[in-house]
Amino acid sequence: MAFKYRRLDAEHAAQWQALRLEGARDFPLGFLVTLEETEATSLERAGQILGAGAQRGIFEQDELVGFCGFRRTLLQRMRHRAEVGPFFVTSGYQGTDAASQMMSGVIEEARSKGVEQLELFVDTQNARAIRFYERLGFERAATYRDSVRIDGVSHDDYFMTLRLAGQDVT
Ligand SMILES: CC(C)(COP(=O)(O)OP(=O)(O)OC[C@H]1O[C@@H](n2cnc3c(N)ncnc32)[C@H](O)[C@@H]1OP(=O)(O)O)[C@@H](O)C(=O)NCCC(=O)NCCS
Repeated sequence: MAFKYRRLDAEHAAQWQALRLEGARDFPLGFLVTLEETEATSLERAGQILGAGAQRGIFEQDELVGFCGFRRTLLQRMRHRAEVGPFFVTSGYQGTDAASQMMSGVIEEARSKGVEQLELFVDTQNARAIRFYERLGFERAATYRDSVRIDGVSHDDYFMTLRLAGQDVT
């Protein structure tokens, strides 16, 4: 399958919001927001969030099949770093090349902007996502204790990093 990576804008609000609802409902380990918080986001608000320019999408033709956050740290002393997340591919496209191509798009964009380190947090129980990130070269840098509480139950996150400088990771 041929996928296309691109920045999301307000015009993608409805598709993006539909994927967020699926993700928050079916993959609570993969999202910080709850389903209720996601449902409270109006399409107008979704458009405003996308307009800020920190969300990327992976498309099959005109269909948005996955999305991720991509935020570069702006302070001068941290401009070599960027945070990735949330990171989600709709269930019908999990196990295809969509997630890998979305991360390849992020890596390529990051490199083009001079970013040398990608960073993300992942629930220590999210085995599929951890395997996916490690396959792409991310390493566990630290364990973040009690980072989120899902329905009152404490969860730990791994803080994972991917070094982009001086190594071929794509
Ligand atoms: C995380 C995500 C983007 C990865 O995309 P994907 O298409 O599922 O990833 P892939 O199929 O390419 O790779 C998954 C890997 O995990 C493996 N895997 C699948 N289920 C697994 C499990 N229960 N435990 C361990 N590994 C598992 C697969 O075999 C594959 O590894 P391999 O390439 O060595 O065979 C996608 O699963 C997703 O959107 N999940 C829900 C949201 C989420 O959790 N996001 C991460 C937030 S930090």
